[in-house]
Amino acid sequence: MMHIEYLPSIDSTNSELMRRAAAGDYSAVCLVAQEQTAGRGRLGRAWLSDEHSLTFSLGMPLAPQDWSGLSLLVGLSIAQSLHPRIQIKWPNDLWVDSQKLAGILIETTAITYAPATERYTVIGIGINLKAPPTAQAQASLDEKSAPIGLHELLPKITANATLERILQPLIDDIHHFAEHGWKPYSTSFSKRDALQGLSIKVSSGMTGKYVGISDTGGLMLQTDTGVQTIISHEVSVCF
Ligand code: BTN
Repeated sequence: MMHIEYLPSIDSTNSELMRRAAAGDYSAVCLVAQEQTAGRGRLGRAWLSDEHSLTFSLGMPLAPQDWSGLSLLVGLSIAQSLHPRIQIKWPNDLWVDSQKLAGILIETTAITYAPATERYTVIGIGINLKAPPTAQAQASLDEKSAPIGLHELLPKITANATLERILQPLIDDIHHFAEHGWKPYSTSFSKRDALQGLSIKVSSGMTGKYVGISDTGGLMLQTDTGVQTIISHEVSVCF
């Protein structure tokens, strides 16, 4: 069982675990915060965390065969533990009816005594229990739709009960993924794939029809010049 540590307030649970790793502490831990004063989203954006959200980071040494499917795997695991209506938007958002429910921020750093394939991995997860104020949320969303809270699906569920429901399956899935890669999860993923059938735009400007996820977790886009596999980009949907 992973050690769980609760903090009333911290700048960012991801930043805290990255600081600990920089100081040589590579322990496996789940760090939960009631409030973040400088929560971070992807691409340098801010992330609001208060008592109406579940905010935590898992830190652990990991050496997966490939890294690109990890955020999808984390999203899939959480979706499966919580509700059949939750979908995953590549590479790392959880959606309900095209509205953002949760975000995932993964960061890694070298472990001084380990081979380069093994890295200390911090998996930060923020789940809205209640939808945050729209203006704030949209700044961190890059999406046209308003965010949504888990209470829409599971009324009154608490942050602790949510964590209890997702944590152990998530740890098990991460270890299974590290050993076996993304492929065993692709069928379950396609049933929850929020981008299925949509035309999308990648942050590089490329547009096309989304045709699925590759065996290593990349996004496959049908463009005028053929199918392109995109490894790490921001994607917006052309509604
Ligand atoms: C995103 O959608 O842009 C990712 C949001 C990730 C937020 C979580 S909350 C816990 C952890 N600590 C942070 O500062 N960020 C992540």
